[in-house]
Amino acid sequence: MPAVHCPAKLNRFLAVLGRRADGFHDLELITTVLEGVPDLTDRLEAEPATTLSLAIGGPTGDGLVADESNLVLKAWRLLEEAAGRPLPAALRLEKRIPHGAGLGGGSSDAAGALRLGNRLFALGLGEDQLLRLAAPLGSDVPLFLLGGTMLGLGRGERVFPLRPIPLEPILLVHPGLHVGTPSVYRALHYVGYPFPEALAAQPEGVPPPWRNDLTGAALWVCPPLAEVRDALRDTGGEPLLCGSGSCWAARYATATERDGAAATLRGIHPQWKAWAV
Ligand code: C5P
Repeated sequence: MPAVHCPAKLNRFLAVLGRRADGFHDLELITTVLEGVPDLTDRLEAEPATTLSLAIGGPTGDGLVADESNLVLKAWRLLEEAAGRPLPAALRLEKRIPHGAGLGGGSSDAAGALRLGNRLFALGLGEDQLLRLAAPLGSDVPLFLLGGTMLGLGRGERVFPLRPIPLEPILLVHPGLHVGTPSVYRALHYVGYPFPEALAAQPEGVPPPWRNDLTGAALWVCPPLAEVRDALRDTGGEPLLCGSGSCWAARYATATERDGAAATLRGIHPQWKAWAV
């Protein structure tokens, strides 16, 4: 059955540059799509059918709604508009990326749906056309069409490929908390807008500063996030909140230190999920 892999993403640099008249925030992002991490990759498959349907399963699929509010079906409807005809298919989404974790799972699934429908029905839409369909679905959807490492501007939807920047040894930790993205952006109002300098030009291929300007707002919305940050620091890691949370990514000097930290955390917090990437 035709299928696509829908990986997670890691924002390695997230600067909030200002609040816009439309309520969104102008950002500068450096993001890497985490290809090749099976435990953090959704899978979407589709076969032609008489009507359009979506079924959701997989380890993190519980509680997700498979109706027209789901980004996969929204993406499919946009493809139908672009094609000018119905594209009836039985879709099945296998979820592994946790929801509300800042890893872009829903956005990745939507990008996967655009690629899969384009292929299954031989629509012949080019990358530019798919990127135009992706942007209204969500600020993070276009980046998954590009893949690799990229610069994101605007509300994050204007993406530009960068030369690959190697990932340091990283441990991603999901504490099982769910943080809503809109509430974190709203909380910037209470904790104070950072409005910092944009990233200064730096040599290509060099890891960006480890920075996320949403951290204070996310901690304001969800104070227990601090426990995860502190536990990662105690293992010698340098934690960075993933997007608007609730995952943290900690980088370590060596893969051995990272793997030791993972073992330590599993002993102290068996209910947290941890992935080496
Ligand atoms: O674009 P997306 O649907 O992912 O955005 C979810 C919410 O996050 C928006 O409704 C908005 O409140 C906030 N947001 C923002 N600025 C951005 C991206 C998202 O304020 N650049």
